[in-house]
Amino acid sequence: MAPTPRPRRSELATPASNEDMFAKAAASGADLVFLDLEDACAPAEREKARGKAARALRDLDWGRTARAIRMNGIDTHWAYGDVIEVVTIAREALDVIIVPKVRRARDVWWVDTLLTQLEETLGLRKRIALEVLIEETEGLQHVDEIAAASDRLEAIIFGAGDFSASQGARVDTNFDPLVEFPGDIWHYARARIVVAARTAGVDAIDAPFPNYKDPAAYRVACERAAAMGFLGKWAIHPSQVEIANTAFSPTPEEIAHAERLVATYRAAESAGKGASGLDGMLVDAAHLRHAATVANRAELLGL
Ligand code: GLV
Ligand code: MG
Repeated sequence: MAPTPRPRRSELATPASNEDMFAKAAASGADLVFLDLEDACAPAEREKARGKAARALRDLDWGRTARAIRMNGIDTHWAYGDVIEVVTIAREALDVIIVPKVRRARDVWWVDTLLTQLEETLGLRKRIALEVLIEETEGLQHVDEIAAASDRLEAIIFGAGDFSASQGARVDTNFDPLVEFPGDIWHYARARIVVAARTAGVDAIDAPFPNYKDPAAYRVACERAAAMGFLGKWAIHPSQVEIANTAFSPTPEEIAHAERLVATYRAAESAGKGASGLDGMLVDAAHLRHAATVANRAELLGL
């Protein structure tokens, strides 16, 4: 079964232990919100947070926002309990589970199999989708097999924070993630993830941006990620949501340009030509593919 395409321009992180933040997250306008049972929750809070998260997913009005949790990694003793408790309470109100620190395809298989058993036992009328975080060097080395590991998988997310630690990169609190040194230090990981995701037919989502008080830098980071083929970015504060939603949407000018490209290509085709020009730029079959991508995105986003 092919995954259902869904917008994920912004994926807003909210600690599952902090109920005071849930209503704001539900009203944030993010394409997806995930209540985080992993690193945003203190270890002592993680088990209690499961019920809080599941009831919030079930009881609040989330509008068109997709509802997700981030579970703990499958190498922790929390993993099975996270899935069983949240799915049992939230049932169809849970759209997506984000699996962190995935290293191999078997990690995805483990969650998929547990979900299949739960869905059958509980008689759920809907399949829960998966997203995975690539944030271990081992995960990046196996990203192709991970990307194809389950037909529940809808997106691969780059987790730059843990990935830097896993790689031994010397990022400290003074590190500017936009600094070109020498070129983006994460460029290889990002490019690798986009190519694997596109090959498997799933979305690539870019990493969190730690400095939530610098909207201008966040916008640049979104635009760079969008230019590479990422379809969205994590937001760690509601104020980042609108910036991501805008940066990952085609603009009215892009949509109009795509329509002109198609018309130009079709006119050339009727005249027996494969290539022609628009505003001094070559138009050929590759441009038709770009135009189709813009049109499909616009349709998915209702633009
Ligand atoms: C996200 O989990 C990250 O580590 O960046
Ligand atoms: Mg992480």
